[in-house]
Amino acid sequence: MRTNPPHYYKNYKSNLSRSPKKTIPVIKYNKEEISEQRINVKNFKHKNNLLEFRKKKHPIGQKIIVYGQVTNLKGEGLKNIIIEIWQANASGKYRDINDKHDAPLDPYFQGYGITLTDRNGNYKFFTIMPGAYPWQNHKSAWRPKHIHFSLLDTNFFSRLCTQMYFPDDILLKNDPIFMAVPSKFRNKLIAKYNNEHNNTPNFITYNFDITMP
Ligand SMILES: [Fe+2]
Repeated sequence: MRTNPPHYYKNYKSNLSRSPKKTIPVIKYNKEEISEQRINVKNFKHKNNLLEFRKKKHPIGQKIIVYGQVTNLKGEGLKNIIIEIWQANASGKYRDINDKHDAPLDPYFQGYGITLTDRNGNYKFFTIMPGAYPWQNHKSAWRPKHIHFSLLDTNFFSRLCTQMYFPDDILLKNDPIFMAVPSKFRNKLIAKYNNEHNNTPNFITYNFDITMP
């Protein structure tokens, strides 16, 4: 079952020149190789609160909580998965010198965080709703609001990069990165609004579960 987008997707301009044209070989590892080396997470420093870039100062934007469970293909929760998160600020601007969007940086928002899943595979972080931003892919192209995720297993062998989107975003249907994903799996990339059990005032909560290959 193919859930990933193809390497070559003609509506996504910048991937045309960098996507591989030859078949990618599959490298097989034996069990010993996979279990021998592991990243030691004993002294791992979490930064799952993206609102703490400059303490006591609040970034601009709607505060949100994102939580979910990381599982394998059998549905089992995966512990100690390193999750990196990065995103634009509320006006759709990254803290990146290559970002040419004519929008302000927020002095109180860095847009980067890192966390670990717990023993049941659960994670949670605090941030603000990212803004949409224009890009040069096609005429009037705007990327929908999204948060970037990179997940790495402590054995180095499993890595997943993905993006989380928000419900009812009118920009999704024109976004080639989102549309490159096979249609029956696109909903998996959209977080679910879920504020029913949220006891943290002033935050909207979204659920985003992730399956690692
Ligand atoms: Fe982005």
